[in-house]
Amino acid sequence: MSDADGRVRAAILISGAGSNMTALIEAARRPESAYSVALVVSNNPDAGGLALAAAQGVETIAIDHRPFGKDRTAHEAAVQVELERRRVEVVALAGYMRLLTPWLVSRWEGRMLNIHPSLLPLYPGLDTHSRAIAAGDAEAGCTVHLVTEGVDEGPILDQARVPILPDDTPASLAQRVLAAEHGLYPKALDAFCARIRSL
Ligand code: GAR
Repeated sequence: MSDADGRVRAAILISGAGSNMTALIEAARRPESAYSVALVVSNNPDAGGLALAAAQGVETIAIDHRPFGKDRTAHEAAVQVELERRRVEVVALAGYMRLLTPWLVSRWEGRMLNIHPSLLPLYPGLDTHSRAIAAGDAEAGCTVHLVTEGVDEGPILDQARVPILPDDTPASLAQRVLAAEHGLYPKALDAFCARIRSL
């Protein structure tokens, strides 16, 4: 069920600063946006992104994973309840630093996107920028993909490329890639939602 104006209802899951989340929220303000942001969820109550989203007038909720201990599925079930309550149709992971169980992934099959700071299939997982520099790569970038059970393995929707400069450090490269992420993710989510809206 879409918004009254026909836009796809998206939720954004974050764990930290939320700069990609901010880019997604800002892009959703365009009248022609194919999606609206119904909810921001964080597993980390101290995530800086929560205050940023609230300042933009977006509903936020923190569901701390720590009280759930090792029971990842129970934490995910608590998240799922909130997604269903807001009639969310698409989930965008944006710096959500939790490994997902098959339970949640299967519930959102074909409807959950992630952004990863490398040119997948290169460098899944962590420390992508230092690995790209150590390999002597000439370029790096970011990837928006559908989430499947394998970490950072799902079908690729779109990528953006940036050069790796001779004096780059992992931090300077991360900054350049992050700027590219902010352009890529809203474009990819918008195109994805426009497509599912037309189904
Ligand atoms: C981004 O670079 C995102 O690609 C990365 O975390 C950062 C979050 O920044 N995600 C992953 O590494 C997921 N495996 P943000 O909170 O400012 O958007």
